[in-house]
Amino acid sequence: MKARQIKPNVYWVGAIDWDRRLFDALIPLPDGTSYNAYLVRGSQKVALIDTVNPSMTPALMTYLENIPVIDYVIANHAEQDHSGSIPQVLAKYPDAKVVTTPKGRDMLVALLLIPEDRFITVSDGETLSLGDKTLEFIHAPWVHWPETMLTYLREDKILFPCDLFGSHLATIDLYVANEGQVYEAAKRYYAEIMMPFRTSIEKHLEKLNSYKIDVIGPSHGPLHDKPSFILEAYRSWVFGSPKNIVVLPYISMHGSTQKMVEYFVGALADRGVTVKQFNLAAIDIGKLAMALVDAATMVIGTPTVLVGPHPNVAYAAFLANALRPRLQFISIIGSYGWGSKAVEQLTGMIPNLKAEVLPPVLSKGFPREDDFQALDNLASTIAKKHKEHGFA
Ligand code: FEO
Repeated sequence: MKARQIKPNVYWVGAIDWDRRLFDALIPLPDGTSYNAYLVRGSQKVALIDTVNPSMTPALMTYLENIPVIDYVIANHAEQDHSGSIPQVLAKYPDAKVVTTPKGRDMLVALLLIPEDRFITVSDGETLSLGDKTLEFIHAPWVHWPETMLTYLREDKILFPCDLFGSHLATIDLYVANEGQVYEAAKRYYAEIMMPFRTSIEKHLEKLNSYKIDVIGPSHGPLHDKPSFILEAYRSWVFGSPKNIVVLPYISMHGSTQKMVEYFVGALADRGVTVKQFNLAAIDIGKLAMALVDAATMVIGTPTVLVGPHPNVAYAAFLANALRPRLQFISIIGSYGWGSKAVEQLTGMIPNLKAEVLPPVLSKGFPREDDFQALDNLASTIAKKHKEHGFA
């Protein structure tokens, strides 16, 4: 595939990874991903914005075969899926400099052993002239590492935000063609990567209000030639209220917790509360993460194993704690045989979730009438609290 023109003398020179199915040995990639790099040819200087995952370096180097000079490699982010080819690019262009934040330099020296004299560090708002094109660097820490920055190409009004606004989606479409598909992929990306840093993203979104943006070129997934689509989606995920939704990750060993969950889901539905239930025995954790973006409440369903929660449930609780969703209420339902510390152990695993813990419901053995009554009471409490807070 040839380099793909975005605007005159601005090209996509990235790599599409159709086959990758896991990121960070953790995150499922059901639809692959891409690593987007961009070449900007000014009248006097040439810049490469980000590079690609090390596994795809040959694809990037093919695009650079007929480019005699690169003056600057802009490193918006030090993570290897974007910085991994920098050493090979620097080897091909011995006079090229890496342009990044001071923290970015420190991290790239540490991660890729790039010599310090190959760097130019830039401060927030600093510009770099390529002749008839100007790059402006916008420091944007914690999207999603501390060194991250965004690059704005002033004359063409293109924002290159690296991971921010990205989606793990392998597609031949240069720009978003199927908004529904990209919305799902971008929300999954936000949930897994960006949600823990929501308060930082709030500030960055506000800062971007003062920029005129025609195109957003993220580092994963298709580009946005209608930036309002992704900007509005991010605003709703970051600034919007939680919704009238309960997320219910659970597992059952002998059917008692399963019965509790089935009854409870019905009780919530009868009270007008939407439930998203996830059986942790076989789950795509990305779907759980996405559900947590909007939910007002999480209720965890667990049997008791060796006095504590089932390990799969503990994993889900640990994950939810790390992702820091906007949850307002939490509770636990489940079962035990002869004794349980599942509630104490689970609530101790979620210190980041500043949510009110509602009274849990654990049945001894298979649930009976008083357990179902307690589940009805919990469902009523959740419905009432959602209504009081205006969660719709
Ligand atoms: Fe796509 Fe944080 O790397």
